[in-house]
Amino acid sequence: MRVSSVISVLAGLHATSCVAANDSWPWQTYKSSSFEPPHLKITKSGATAPGYLFFDQSWDAHQYSVFMMSDDNELIWQSPYGDLKDFRVQMLDGKPVLTYFNGIGVPEPFGWGYGIIQILDQSYQSIYNVSVIHDNYTAVGTVDSSSFVSWLDIHESTMTSDNTMLLTGYNVTQADLSSVGGPKDGWIADSLFYEVDVKTNDILFRWSAKDHVDQISLEDVQPFYPIHDWGHNKSAPYGYFHINSVEKFQDGSFLVSSRYYCSLFKIAKDGSVDWTLQGQTGGDFSLDGVNFAYQHDARIRNEEDSKLVISIFDNANSDVKNGTDHTEGIFMNVNLDTKSVTPLRLLDDPRDEIFSTSQGAVQALPENHVLIGYGSNPKIKEYNADGSCIMTAQFGEDSVVSSYRAYRHPWVGIPNTAPDVFSCIDTSHNTTNVYMSWNGATEHQQWHVFGGVTQNGLPRLGVTPKTGFETVTSVKGGLKYVRVEAHGHGIKAGVSKSVHVQTQC
Ligand SMILES: *[C@@H]1O[C@H](CO)[C@@H](O)[C@H](O)[C@H]1NC(C)=O
Ligand SMILES: *[C@@H]1O[C@H](CO)[C@@H](O)[C@H](O)[C@H]1NC(C)=O
Ligand SMILES: *[C@@H]1O[C@H](CO)[C@@H](O)[C@H](O)[C@H]1NC(C)=O
Ligand SMILES: *[C@@H]1O[C@H](CO)[C@@H](O)[C@H](O)[C@H]1NC(C)=O
Ligand SMILES: *[C@@H]1O[C@H](CO)[C@@H](O)[C@H](O)[C@H]1NC(C)=O
Ligand SMILES: *[C@@H]1O[C@H](CO)[C@@H](O)[C@H](O)[C@H]1NC(C)=O
Ligand SMILES: *[C@@H]1O[C@H](CO)[C@@H](O)[C@H](O)[C@H]1NC(C)=O
Repeated sequence: MRVSSVISVLAGLHATSCVAANDSWPWQTYKSSSFEPPHLKITKSGATAPGYLFFDQSWDAHQYSVFMMSDDNELIWQSPYGDLKDFRVQMLDGKPVLTYFNGIGVPEPFGWGYGIIQILDQSYQSIYNVSVIHDNYTAVGTVDSSSFVSWLDIHESTMTSDNTMLLTGYNVTQADLSSVGGPKDGWIADSLFYEVDVKTNDILFRWSAKDHVDQISLEDVQPFYPIHDWGHNKSAPYGYFHINSVEKFQDGSFLVSSRYYCSLFKIAKDGSVDWTLQGQTGGDFSLDGVNFAYQHDARIRNEEDSKLVISIFDNANSDVKNGTDHTEGIFMNVNLDTKSVTPLRLLDDPRDEIFSTSQGAVQALPENHVLIGYGSNPKIKEYNADGSCIMTAQFGEDSVVSSYRAYRHPWVGIPNTAPDVFSCIDTSHNTTNVYMSWNGATEHQQWHVFGGVTQNGLPRLGVTPKTGFETVTSVKGGLKYVRVEAHGHGIKAGVSKSVHVQTQC
């Protein structure tokens, strides 16, 4: 069980340490940077959509962080360490920004978290932190919440075109569980969602599953998440709803995904349930060639009159049921007139059948490509318009490392920090080796290397092309100081400090 060890190590929001309980998967190291991103094992059989891979890693990962990496296994940007999740590019004021959760994740069998959503601009500067501070929450009993600065959960941080964000929260509270055989004064983890103005943190909408138990009954969840021993105390609250995505319809209502109800709910602006799409029984719909269970990441892909296209990551597996049905990406037609649901695209890789028991995401890419991040299975796959898997990138062993959501995005990064340089003398070859990198910089193509025996006024010794996250070059003889400059088409030069050369490599 990972539960107790992870919680104690990651107490507090500003945790900089990382859990490195399992170092069995290889990672990359650099001389000019302390980042240690995973080695991506990539197989590719066709052209992928433009952009870099964005993912987080946790559980027994080597370094807890979020990563932007290329299909060539090169790091582009890594954040400072932390329990970070759902790393992606979104639009704020018409400009691309980076967003991710920063806080603590409470692992399965709970599977939620407490923290903030960070928003960074193109220079990687933190411009907004989205938080919910004043709502009165209680954490699960095993977590010390005294240092919490916000109560936002890991599961959702989707921006709307109105500069608002859709967010989730988990509140441990009391409820009568006697109707399903639990205690009358029982404990639940209520699921909430919000729409919040990201610049002011004003709460524009708040909804709680507990407030709607008349329409979303405890009885209905029993076949998929039986109460068993849950709910007797606040260290074991019955987390029966388990909200894991929120999206907004054009009319201002919301599409909500509940993992344990195996259901998507349309929540009206007054909070009531307009319809339920249940993955096994259909709920208010008839299922014709589609079924799903314990799904994640429900997205509205098209909305025309009474016809919707919704995509989900269909885990089909969870901590309560696993190993029978494989995981798929599903795009489905939802007809609100005929109340029927039919498949549009079912995406899986027959050469690599996956049983993902938690997390996961499905992203629609240009030219009908689809990117799928497999959650508890640390793999990212891209499918082409024919539905064939054309790329797999793996960064850990199944169920050892996990990534909440993965994406592919084009990105231009212009850091306001200086490049990093490390240099040492290779005595056996009588050369000075120079290692240079610039976390997050995407536009430079060349490095200019300066060196000499005094700290100032170093002459330029040469120019070398950028070869990846870290470029290495060597110059003849033993130098005392070096500095480097990054140059590229249309960018200002990034100038490193002048550093002491180590006398031995
Ligand atoms: C690390 O993961 C590997 C591969 O799944 C496994 O064989 C090994 O037992 C794990 N080690 C620890 C310490 O968890
Ligand atoms: C957001 O929070 C992070 C982590 O605590 C902090 O480093 C950063 O300065 C904050 N940014 C803003 C805009 O407040
Ligand atoms: C906050 O919730 C606790 C129960 O968890 C309750 O005792 C307390 O009165 C609430 N406070 C406010 C200000 O609502
Ligand atoms: C959390 O539950 C407590 C009661 O236990 C309640 O007072 C509080 O309002 C709830 N918080 C939210 C955000 O619903
Ligand atoms: C809470 O309930 C669970 C399940 O019944 C039990 O295993 C655990 O010991 C209880 N914890 C406390 C602190 O009472
Ligand atoms: C789920 O089932 C698959 C297939 O039987 C198995 O490989 C995997 O280890 C199981 N995962 C968990 C978390 O039980
Ligand atoms: C090392 O290289 C420098 C510059 O090329 C040269 O001046 C020096 O004599 C060399 N030293 C040795 C030990 O070969």
